[in-house]
Amino acid sequence: MMASAHEQMWPDRAPPGRFAYVNGRYLRHANAGVHVEDRGLQFSDAVYEVFGVTGGAILDESEHFDRLERSLRELDMSMPMSRNSLGLVVREIARRNHVVDGLIYLQITRGAFRRDHAVPRDRTQRPSVILTARNVDMAAVEARRASGIKVVTMPDERWGRCDIKSTSLLGNILAKTKARDAGAYEAWLVDRDGFVTEGSSTTAWIVDQQGRLITRDLSHAILPGVTRRVILEVAAESQLSATEQRFTAKDAYAAREAFITAATIGAMPIVSIDGRAIGDGKPGPVARRVQELYGRAARARSTGS
Ligand code: PDD
Repeated sequence: MMASAHEQMWPDRAPPGRFAYVNGRYLRHANAGVHVEDRGLQFSDAVYEVFGVTGGAILDESEHFDRLERSLRELDMSMPMSRNSLGLVVREIARRNHVVDGLIYLQITRGAFRRDHAVPRDRTQRPSVILTARNVDMAAVEARRASGIKVVTMPDERWGRCDIKSTSLLGNILAKTKARDAGAYEAWLVDRDGFVTEGSSTTAWIVDQQGRLITRDLSHAILPGVTRRVILEVAAESQLSATEQRFTAKDAYAAREAFITAATIGAMPIVSIDGRAIGDGKPGPVARRVQELYGRAARARSTGS
């Protein structure tokens, strides 16, 4: 049978059997799309969340929804449906894609309008809601955790509201690409005053010579990471000393350990920054302990899918 014009649009986009959710419908991933005038496409006028899934359970669901609502509020957008309904879609997209260990990606755009920079006054147009989900190769993640990752620093060239989880990620993707091309896994972004803000898609942490966990304090300069928040909580409960304060690349070079965190990877140890070995150049015990504590806390707080 001949494929329809629509089906031919994006050949080989995804393995068969994957589904996406777009504006009220579960569609085959290969055929799923939004309108060409969608402001998410035209302007990155959109926000998103990435939920981690472990053993079929969604991690830190309410924290991700809290952050989503905050991002929407900051951009004068509203939730497209109730939190409960959106939670059902989150669970259903995971179920339809047989996600056991992986991630759920949720994006809300302002919707499709005639292209015009200013945010449309018309509030009757519905936002676009897009969800995808997939498994992640956890064996590869664990292998990376065992070997540790390399990081390179570079200027933070992003906009001034990095606390909003917007899909405007040009600065992030260019930094990540430079890091990859330099043989590193992540880019640490450095502000004009010489302080590390965060990774291109992760929160940055160091462990100083006194064994204290240090991560940058919250401001418009960084995303308030959900994993960051959970780790600060479990550190406090476990008598691990942790402070939220700025640090420079030089502080990082001299650190006992360094690591990054994000929903899909937990705590991932760093073995070198800008080609300099961190500590003894191997994943350190504090990062390992943080990962254990985070893993335990995340499982305890997870919600069934
Ligand atoms: N990234 N900082 C940035 C710039 C990020 O993009 C992310 C997450 C984080 C960590 O946040 P959390 O702990 O809530 O995952 C910090 C996601 C995973 C992404 O863009 O794919």
